[in-house]
Amino acid sequence: LSYEVKFQEEAFLPFSKPTISQEAIGDVVECLNSGWITSGPKVQKFEEALGAYLGAPYVLSLTSATAGLFLALKALDLRPGDEVITTSLTFVATLNTIVHAGGKPVLVDIDKTYNMDVKQIEQVISSRTRAIMPVHFTGLSVNLDPIYALTKKHHLHVIEDAAQAIGSGYKNKKIGSFGDMQVFSFHPNKNMTTIEGGCIALRDEELFKKLKHLRFHGIDRDAFNRFSKSGSQHYDVVEAGYKYNMPDVHAALGLHQLASLDSFIEKRKSLAKNYMDAFKGWSQITLPQLPSYDHDHSWHLFSVLIHPEESGVTRDQFIEEMKKFNIGTGLHYQPVHLFTYYQDMFGFYKGEFPVAERVTNRIVSLPLFPTMSTKDQERVIQAMAKIFKRG
Ligand SMILES: Cc1ncc(COP(=O)(O)O)c(C=O)c1O
Repeated sequence: LSYEVKFQEEAFLPFSKPTISQEAIGDVVECLNSGWITSGPKVQKFEEALGAYLGAPYVLSLTSATAGLFLALKALDLRPGDEVITTSLTFVATLNTIVHAGGKPVLVDIDKTYNMDVKQIEQVISSRTRAIMPVHFTGLSVNLDPIYALTKKHHLHVIEDAAQAIGSGYKNKKIGSFGDMQVFSFHPNKNMTTIEGGCIALRDEELFKKLKHLRFHGIDRDAFNRFSKSGSQHYDVVEAGYKYNMPDVHAALGLHQLASLDSFIEKRKSLAKNYMDAFKGWSQITLPQLPSYDHDHSWHLFSVLIHPEESGVTRDQFIEEMKKFNIGTGLHYQPVHLFTYYQDMFGFYKGEFPVAERVTNRIVSLPLFPTMSTKDQERVIQAMAKIFKRG
């Protein structure tokens, strides 16, 4: 395939880019100059602001969502052989943390929305099942009512992998405002960022206390309380905890990002709608399929399926062709059940989750970020028209 040179002369259009204001940078610098740069007053303010935004009484900020998933699982005190049910179409952290916490991942296939097929869950519940980990993939909420009905019936826990779902909604409720535990990510390509970072939202006070201890060495009080003028330097250790506290410098950025989050999501929604309208009727791709239940999609990703039979290119060739137009794309994700470690350790095999495999062979995420212009988006659409030879 050969394309006009003018496309190649345009600047590289990444698939994702954080939006960081000068005011935010000013506050980060101010925090760096303040003399207190790790967890302290900014973190406290950020957690309060997150609680207010999400509608969650308890929020723990962390160094990543991976840390959050691990701590949430750790708080369940899994015994060897305990099972946690999730999906193969996710970032590997979802399954890695189950393994780290001593559990065994059990998978179900996905449905047309790319989220786990909720209808398949009950068939894989066993006497060893302890929790279900739905992943709100692309920012589209999983159908949670049937999941919470199942966990009530079988006395299981729910840890929602909401890494991609800050600002998403399910049946007029924000993800994070109800249910057991929700874990969000603030990685740079997420809808809001703290560079690296994440949080857990929850409603159970005892669990919150346990997670707080697990977050910081099992120590029963915060560093800021120990080292400030009014604090005492003595503390007790109530568990062998970890070290996953978010620094104040990151929270300083997070406070600005959170204040802008709804406007970022509005922009994402409008870009997603433009893509939906522009690609209507294109046989070369399948557009994101939305469920019939009430939901509020935060459009973390706009992922389409490339059909080689119709388009003349495989997904991998499509990614390469887009590069010729100086356009980046994202591959979310390779299916976890086909990675060597997961096949060797848990016996997953090719062909086991056919819908996930078909989707992950074809899926690609198109550029989508709040500062993306109409012209940028037009470039993406025109490049795709050329690759697919639509004239
Ligand atoms: C579904 C999912 N789970 C977990 C994570 C891990 O998030 P973090 O990078 O904050 O640890 C990600 C990040 O890409 C994700 O997309």
